[in-house]
Amino acid sequence: MELLKKLTRCWSPSGREDNIRELIAAEMEPYVTDVYTDPMGNLICRKKGNGKRLMFAAHMDEIGFMVTNIDDKGFLRFVSVGGISAHNCVNRGVIFENGTRGVISYEKTVRDLNLDKMYIDIGAADRAEAEKKVSVGDMAGYDEDFALMGGCASAKSMDDRVGCYALIKAVQAAKTCPNDLYAVFTVQEELGLRGAKTASFNVEPDMGIAIDVSMVGDTPESAKHSLSLGKGPGVKLKDASFIIHPKAREFMLGAAKAAEIPYQLEAAAYGGTDAGAIHLSGGGVPSGTISVPTRYIHSPREVVNLADVENTVRLVTKMIETGI
Ligand code: CO
Ligand code: ZN
Repeated sequence: MELLKKLTRCWSPSGREDNIRELIAAEMEPYVTDVYTDPMGNLICRKKGNGKRLMFAAHMDEIGFMVTNIDDKGFLRFVSVGGISAHNCVNRGVIFENGTRGVISYEKTVRDLNLDKMYIDIGAADRAEAEKKVSVGDMAGYDEDFALMGGCASAKSMDDRVGCYALIKAVQAAKTCPNDLYAVFTVQEELGLRGAKTASFNVEPDMGIAIDVSMVGDTPESAKHSLSLGKGPGVKLKDASFIIHPKAREFMLGAAKAAEIPYQLEAAAYGGTDAGAIHLSGGGVPSGTISVPTRYIHSPREVVNLADVENTVRLVTKMIETGI
């Protein structure tokens, strides 16, 4: 879990993926033939082979906040970078790239909380002092550390560093690789699958599989959803961005059954993953998504189950070894 801890500690909101890309590239380099960064910033790791092109995608970026205005008293107004609700961030800590720390809070007269009525307090006395530390356009991420709890782990940016972790570990573990394999770590997923769009145009895969977190229905009074923590990775059949291709479904379920890995079927009304962009690239690409069941998605403490994480690694490893 050391690597997962390292990945979740990394500061890299959408559009600023330099830190996380460097970390992942160092992990991947000994195990693949080529590692390169495309113009958008996607990290493309290729294990060259003669067979069909099999692409896996996990996004490197995390949700964050961008400063839009600094007021006379030194409070910062902001917009979210990616989908963040007021519930998820009120009175939580944030950190800017230069290490400046802040707390997100809200106007005290407000009843219906939304981000327009919220601000970041960096402890500045006034505008001039605040401007020494941050400027309009600067981004912050959640300031929260990795923690183990029971059989689970919580951290910021499990979405989708846990997917990056599974892909890294699977490429490192795979004993065979019959395909021309592309492990792609994408940028700007949280802003609408932007990196995956250009990466898959470039790679032209024969099959694309995204690895990402997905919501669960196992907490008190939660919405009805088939996924639970601890019952294995999800095979996502649908969300708002795509519907699984029968070939991808067969590939994923075949590998899970062959390696006797527990899995859960999942159909979601909303949400999206990089598979949404990959399947529509070029002339079309059969695509699927492996889900890591996750509680409190887009909050500063996203919770995953460690057995699910290991089973996700095993599933991706088996898929790489089996090939298409
Ligand atoms: Co997300
Ligand atoms: Zn995600």
